[in-house]
Amino acid sequence: MNSILFKPAIIGTLKIKNRFIRSATMEGMSTPEGMPTPMLDNLYCKLAQGQVGLIVTSGAVIEAYPYFPQGLSFPLAIDTDDKIDAWQDTIDAVHASGAKIAMQLTSLGRQDMPEWRGEPPIAPSAVPVNETGVVPRQMTIKDIEIVVEKFAQCCCRVKKAGFDAVQLHGAHGNLINNFMSPYTNQRTDEYGGSIENRARFTTQIIKRTRELVGPDYPLMLKMNFDDFIEGGLKCDDAVKIAKAIVQAGIDCIEVSGGTYSESKEHISVKGIKKQRDESYFKDYAKALKQEISIPVVLVGGNRTFDVMEQIVGQGIADFVSMSRPFIREPELIQRWQEGNLEKAQCISCNQCFDKWIFNPLRCYAIACDNDAAIG
Ligand SMILES: Cc1cc2nc3c(=O)[nH]c(=O)nc-3n(C[C@H](O)[C@H](O)[C@H](O)COP(=O)(O)O)c2cc1C
Ligand code: SF4
Repeated sequence: MNSILFKPAIIGTLKIKNRFIRSATMEGMSTPEGMPTPMLDNLYCKLAQGQVGLIVTSGAVIEAYPYFPQGLSFPLAIDTDDKIDAWQDTIDAVHASGAKIAMQLTSLGRQDMPEWRGEPPIAPSAVPVNETGVVPRQMTIKDIEIVVEKFAQCCCRVKKAGFDAVQLHGAHGNLINNFMSPYTNQRTDEYGGSIENRARFTTQIIKRTRELVGPDYPLMLKMNFDDFIEGGLKCDDAVKIAKAIVQAGIDCIEVSGGTYSESKEHISVKGIKKQRDESYFKDYAKALKQEISIPVVLVGGNRTFDVMEQIVGQGIADFVSMSRPFIREPELIQRWQEGNLEKAQCISCNQCFDKWIFNPLRCYAIACDNDAAIG
């Protein structure tokens, strides 16, 4: 297939065979310790065999939960050195199909659960969460130093485990986003207020990580360009923050938006039917791309091949990433490569999004569609 979407491109030192990325998606398929299982390996192999260029894992936590409840899906975790070796077979299998794999790292910040932690969540400021009423504890400078070090040590473990890259989760109301957003960051010290100060937590993570992993290891960041909250992070400020982060040594930025606690409906928008509803963060990617020279990844509502081809062809983004379409069709890119360019079959009903915390990831609409066809 002669399309720019099937031309290789690089993120830092990492060559990726095409422009398709599987965006981080909670799989709910790990062991209670946050390590891979045969079910998770199988999913990543299907994505790799389905010709995804780069797979980003679900967000792996940087510290384990002491009181994580039974019956919920365990998150990945790479908080200790004994979790490094567990990944070798998974990564080898992905590489055997020509794909690359990055691990996403996350800390949930103010959205974290007090009952899982055994104490209140931590955040830049004690701004209550609307949805739950949870009031996070404002981080001290010492707390910030500890979390920066934890992120950097986890990045180092990701490299040692053999992942091709690491992605910091700085979107969707998680801790890194909490520092960038004026709604959740009301600090008056060197971590709050100005663009430089709101970028500082992230730039410190990147600089410390670079000391540990060296200049060549690919570091990526997923971040919000709109929190969709009054008083939250908006595109103009986000672009300025991104520029500071590029200076600190990030290799690639994935453009996203929305928060789980206050504006969930904007992360994975429901009911995408028309082409004009697709690729819903593309104006933000365009604004960012004009200001930075590292690769930009666009996530959110990418469904139609031609639309994505235009986005990459026009230089609005260098890569397109998808989450829900790959839940329904892990083999989607292979289908397109073979010439069947019908749009992704995902109907954006969000049943997978609403149920991931309780069950291993799957598409709940496939059975319904089949039922309708049979009925
Ligand atoms: C079931 C599910 C789990 C998700 N888990 C994560 C995650 O772990 N990390 C992350 O950055 N985004 C996560 N997302 C958001 C997606 O990566 C993506 O940003 C969003 O769904 C929009 O892309 P899409 O229209 O291709 O689905 C998740 C989305 C879904 C549907
Ligand atoms: S349940 Fe299936 S069709 Fe619905 S959003 Fe998820 S992947 Fe798409």
